[in-house]
Amino acid sequence: MKKTIVSLKKMKECGDLISWITAYDLPFSQAAEKAGVDMILVGDSGGMVQLGYETTNPVTMNEMIILSQAVRRGAPNTFIVGDMPQGSYEISNTEAVRNAIRFVKEAGVDAVKLEGGRRVADRVRCIVDAGVSVIGHLGLTPQSSASFGGYRVQGKTRESFDATFEDAEALQNAGICALLLEAMPEAPAAKISRVLDVPVLGIGAGKSTDGQLVIIHDLMGFYQSFRPWFAKCYIPEVISEFTEYISSCSDLRSLGRDDRADGLLKLAEVAISAYIREVKGGLFPNEDYTYPIKKEELDDVAQSKYW
Ligand code: KIV
Repeated sequence: MKKTIVSLKKMKECGDLISWITAYDLPFSQAAEKAGVDMILVGDSGGMVQLGYETTNPVTMNEMIILSQAVRRGAPNTFIVGDMPQGSYEISNTEAVRNAIRFVKEAGVDAVKLEGGRRVADRVRCIVDAGVSVIGHLGLTPQSSASFGGYRVQGKTRESFDATFEDAEALQNAGICALLLEAMPEAPAAKISRVLDVPVLGIGAGKSTDGQLVIIHDLMGFYQSFRPWFAKCYIPEVISEFTEYISSCSDLRSLGRDDRADGLLKLAEVAISAYIREVKGGLFPNEDYTYPIKKEELDDVAQSKYW
């Protein structure tokens, strides 16, 4: 059954871990829905992995709408989040609301995501007041990474943890329905997850959040230019399962259009299913895919008044 903001919150309350994956097109969103993922993000990362830009910054609203429409067609029964690209929400509350509503009206998404904390809390409130659900995004926020001195792990100092914590509380007070934490060691991310009432999902934030997000091109090994080391490619470990499945089908060509699953679409489904199993079982990310934190750094963070 399609998730809602209410059922996602219930999952947090019951300790059911949430699986989330990006998709930007028809085949991968179909594979994700078939595998049974809880949520899909049409990330502005699509600008890099799908459209070939060097960063996420050039992506436009029109491009995000086209990608999101394709994903909605491929996954009609999955909770879909549209990622607000740089420039679509910073200028004014009116612009932010207009663009959030475009995602809903033109692409049928269930929520939008935007980066930033206290500085965007007013934008979040206005979008929520307009009837659109919002997911916050803190930690490493790629759109404004230049102002943090590049792609840097967050939450490793007391100052950075305090700032992230205050941002998270401001976003929750502004009405977000969930929060994404990117690139943080496990302990600070776990602390924020426990304190917030809304589900907190992680990408590169350890296994103690309420769920995980992964970029489909990392999971499939499709994007060569860069892969964050917390991102796991599942193909090496599922390829034998895929091969066994194919050899178990006696006559692939006799299958009907709906049952024919003989190529990369099936491989994607098998790989996404393996990811979902590991998330639900609390097995991903293990420590190979988690940012380390030194004892003296953690001792400093633990001095925070919010700890
Ligand atoms: O665009 C995206 O996929 C994202 C993730 C990197 C968190 O925002």
